[in-house]
Amino acid sequence: MSAEEFRLLRDHVYSHCGILVHEDMKFVMERRLWPRLEVLGAPDFSAYHRYLRYDANRHVELEAAVESLTTHETYFFREPSQLKAFREELLPTLEKRNARTRRLRLWSAGCSSGEEAYTLAMLLKEERRFDDWDVEVYGTDISRRVLAMARRAEYGPSALRATSADLLERFFLPTGHAKVRVRDEVRAMVSFGHHNLLDEAGSQLVAKMDAVFCRNVMIYFDQSARRKVLRILRDRLVPGGYLLLGHSENLLNLGADFELVHLRGDLVYRRPELPGLLGSESR
Ligand SMILES: C[S@@+](CC[C@H](N)C(=O)[O-])C[C@H]1O[C@@H](n2cnc3c(N)ncnc32)[C@H](O)[C@@H]1O
Repeated sequence: MSAEEFRLLRDHVYSHCGILVHEDMKFVMERRLWPRLEVLGAPDFSAYHRYLRYDANRHVELEAAVESLTTHETYFFREPSQLKAFREELLPTLEKRNARTRRLRLWSAGCSSGEEAYTLAMLLKEERRFDDWDVEVYGTDISRRVLAMARRAEYGPSALRATSADLLERFFLPTGHAKVRVRDEVRAMVSFGHHNLLDEAGSQLVAKMDAVFCRNVMIYFDQSARRKVLRILRDRLVPGGYLLLGHSENLLNLGADFELVHLRGDLVYRRPELPGLLGSESR
């Protein structure tokens, strides 16, 4: 792959989904995309780039290219201290705030194979506060392959490495082949859909959310793509709705329109209740 081919392919992938392949990852990109050239019979990366731009099948191929460049690492009950803070400190607030409508909407944005979305549904089941509420958890991802896995809801030991024996017993059923399946009562609370977080128009179809988990997704984006996604996520939150990022992520230098909320066990972000009322504060 020449430097020019790398630049063209990198820019194309970036403008589609925000993932920025750094200069020093050129060889990784080359290695991961090479099988695609073989599948298509493209003689070199310039021909592959032309295919991605102009072929009638370019959208399908772009998905395959992005698929080969993304990381889908995830597991149930990831980042337990954040989940504890969510459960103990934010869910009671949401219960009070939505007491009249008795409706709750959570979104796992960049849900990979579904573990995060199901984890949220399991937390709600554990909590019991929302038992007779209208509750929905949405999981979306740019990869159709992982969404198919999410809908299947069958998992092996790696996905369960942070799941206690109690939770395993309560929320999963053994299927044989050293795998378990998420119980129907949890599956019924979660729906999955294909969605590119950079797609502003597509985002308008997403319901207004009480909380969005967008963890370990934007770490692969540059600042400009992050800004765009944050604007979109903010727009999808109800005023006062919460945004939870991964533990290595923050909104520093992004000028994003969120308040910082200091919980006892974590820092989260919140869309201000009223436009123009910004500032760091405690709950
Ligand atoms: C590392 S996984 C994180 C999964 C989960 N949120 C967690 O923290 O365990 C990142 C996911 O983000 C998805 N992703 C990357 N870019 C995206 C985009 N532009 N729109 C939607 N999903 C995207 C990837 O396909 C991948 O499944």
